Amino acid sequence: MSSPTSSVIIKGIGSFTPEKILTNDELSKMVDTSDEWITTRTGIKERRIAGKGETAATMGAIASERAIKDAGLEVDDIDLVIVATITPDMPFPSTACLIQTKLGISNAVCFDIEAACSGFLYLLELGTSLLRGGKKYRNALLIGSEKISSILDWEDRTTCVLFGDGAGAAVVSLSESEEGLIDFKLGADGNKSDVLYMPGGGCSLPATLDSIEDGKHFLKMRGREVFKLAVKVMEQSAVEILEQNDLSPDQIQCVIPHQANLRIIESISSRLRIPMERFFLNLEKYGNTSAASIPIALDEAYQSGRLKRGDLILMVAFGAGLTWGATLLKWTK
Ligand SMILES: CC(C)(COP(=O)(O)OP(=O)(O)OC[C@H]1O[C@@H](n2cnc3c(N)ncnc32)[C@H](O)[C@@H]1OP(=O)(O)O)[C@@H](O)C(=O)NCCC(=O)NCCS
Repeated sequence: MSSPTSSVIIKGIGSFTPEKILTNDELSKMVDTSDEWITTRTGIKERRIAGKGETAATMGAIASERAIKDAGLEVDDIDLVIVATITPDMPFPSTACLIQTKLGISNAVCFDIEAACSGFLYLLELGTSLLRGGKKYRNALLIGSEKISSILDWEDRTTCVLFGDGAGAAVVSLSESEEGLIDFKLGADGNKSDVLYMPGGGCSLPATLDSIEDGKHFLKMRGREVFKLAVKVMEQSAVEILEQNDLSPDQIQCVIPHQANLRIIESISSRLRIPMERFFLNLEKYGNTSAASIPIALDEAYQSGRLKRGDLILMVAFGAGLTWGATLLKWTK
């Protein structure tokens, strides 16, 4: 828990999703699947697919402009830009630097992190700590942006039906009067790195004709194992963060879960004894947008009037790594 002088709030929030919609019916013309299979196993009905010129940087920049505007700030009020993505525009420079330039932010520290679908929750703790520590920074722009469609094997029905593209951003700022971000419970287990990964493209397997032919530059997943691990680690981190803060599940007004799979979310709901009505869901429209999933959902929950000032919000996520996390937030907008 923070002291009142080192509180950090979400001052602005914004998101962007590409215009192009790919429905389950359209997908079933591309691979051997059906709307019925995808809907019953995942809850996903459609996803957004980035166009040719759209990238993690372009989508992240639009989400960021919206978040800065929502915060009532100017670009030059931002002194820290951190992006979470597994689909950066290129290995270097960072997508954060590319977004900085697109927005015309003149003076900021910029870098990327990689924690897959838990990325935005990692960003919230990192941003909060940097703002609190030493008061060098005042307003951090935290962005989850993904063009997952660029790393999917569009012939692999076990993965391509699950994901989509998009971006979400938040401006987090020091506040003397209010406490917004209350607590964080992050975790990781590299022993499980082989359940969800992309083998090629890094220094251990740079692109070659063979690596491309062998499909090494596509996302690989062992779905059933991921499912079981996801339920376990999300429940665990949520229970721990509630206990640490002496909160019972009925004190949480809204849960914003990583939007990967409706059945995973239903399991979490029953294990935590928080009814599904208190979970915010938009996965039917977007599928799993990895690091962008939670900030897009948070923005849509806010824009739709679902979040009220003073509400206690629990965010939970899991992703490749494995990584996972839970974050407690009091809504201050
Ligand atoms: C991927 C997932 C939906 C698969 O559901 P499942 O109930 O575990 O299904 P299985 O993998 O056991 O496959 C069941 C059958 O459906 C088939 N199948 C897989 N994908 C299919 C698809 N898109 N359409 C139709 N059939 C499909 C399988 O080939 C298998 O057929 P078989 O029994 O003849 O071998 C589920 O495991 C899941 O959501 N896991 C978590 C994934 C996730 O969230 N990843 C992101 C982490 S951030």
